[in-house]
This record gives sequence, C-alpha cells and structure tokens, in this order.
Amino acid sequence: MKTIFALSGSLRKGSFNTALLRALVAAAPQDVAINVGSIRELPLYDFDVEVANFPKSAQDLKEGLINAQGLLLVTPEYNNSVPGVLKNAIDWMTRPSADIARVFRNKPVAIMGASDGPGGTRLSQSAWLPVFRTLGMRPYYGSTLYMDRASNYFDANGNLLDDKMKERLQKFVDGFRDFI
Ligand code: FNR
Repeated sequence: MKTIFALSGSLRKGSFNTALLRALVAAAPQDVAINVGSIRELPLYDFDVEVANFPKSAQDLKEGLINAQGLLLVTPEYNNSVPGVLKNAIDWMTRPSADIARVFRNKPVAIMGASDGPGGTRLSQSAWLPVFRTLGMRPYYGSTLYMDRASNYFDANGNLLDDKMKERLQKFVDGFRDFI
C-alpha cells in the first residue's frame, strides 16, 4: 500500500482543482491511499507566529506528508504562476527549515491542475518546479495532466463526466504509484 498526501490549491467551493482531486481519489487503485490535507485554516506565513505558536494546521500538513510516500499538488494557475494560498501552505510546511530534510527531501512529488482557460495550468505547473528542486524532491515526469476548459468536464456538482479523463487520472495515479 502506498500513501499519497494531496493538496488542492483552491479554497472556493466550486473549485475545478478540488473537483479534479476528488475524481482522482475515486479513480485511484486499491493499493493507493490518498490522504487529502486542508490548507483552509492556515494563517499567512509569519515568522513571529512560527516562533510564538506554530499553527496546528501547519503541523498537521507536515505530519500528513511525513506519513506519506509521495506528495500530489493539484494547482490552479494565477497570473501565469502558482496560487499564493498553495505556496503559503508549502512555505509553512518548510518551517522550521531544519525539518525540510525529513518532510520533503527525496520525496516523490506529482503535479496536475485545472483551469477554465486554454492553458490548463501549464505555466503554474512549470513554476512549481524550482520549489521542488529547492526542497530536494523527486518530481514525477511520467505523465502530465493539464486540464484546460475545465467547465466542460464537470457537472454543476463538480462530478467528473468525462470517461477519457477518468482513464487518464487512473493512468496518472498508477504511474505515480510505480514511480514511488
Ligand atoms: C486566474 N485564472 C487564470 N487562469 C489561467 O489559466 N491562467 C492564469 O494566469 C490565471 N490567472 C488568474 C489569476 C487570478 C487572481 C484568478 C482568481 C484567476 C483563472 C483560474 O484558472 C480559474 O479561476 C480557476 O477556476 C481557478 O481554479 P479553481 O478555483 O476552479 O480550482
């Protein structure tokens, strides 16, 4: 059994990225557990808060990744780059920096994302790569998943309608499991 810790980088209820992550959880094979963490409760990163009272929400994310064999980010794209709320979560997880090795180093990481535009988060996904490199992670390059025109794939309740996309999600998780 392999455990993947997964984060969606959007807070909104109707998020395509959160819906994509839900669909991926549903498509995952039996020998993969996907634990979904929450970035909702995190404060904005502040060194003073880190020192005075390290947030439980940030500690929970660190533990979630420590207890997993891989990390999956499902990322929106904001202004051709990473969304601040997800970057804020990763930044909290890298504190204190003495913990980076046991939380991140050599850990496999996969990335996918959805946007309603034509780019499908390509630029955002590329913009995450220097972060992974800095943290000494091992990016999964076995397959890519850029969901463009995301509103075409889901119903009003965020259920994935497209069978081909379900197959692609299955292949993506299978490949990431094998990489791990
Ligand atoms: C966007 N959006 C966007 N889309 C894109 O493909 N490239 C981009 O650079 C941006 N930039 C951007 C900036 C900001 C501040 C916002 C709020 C939005 C649109 C974005 O992809 C769309 O809102 C997605 O639906 C966001 O993901 P969720 O919330 O549906 O998961």
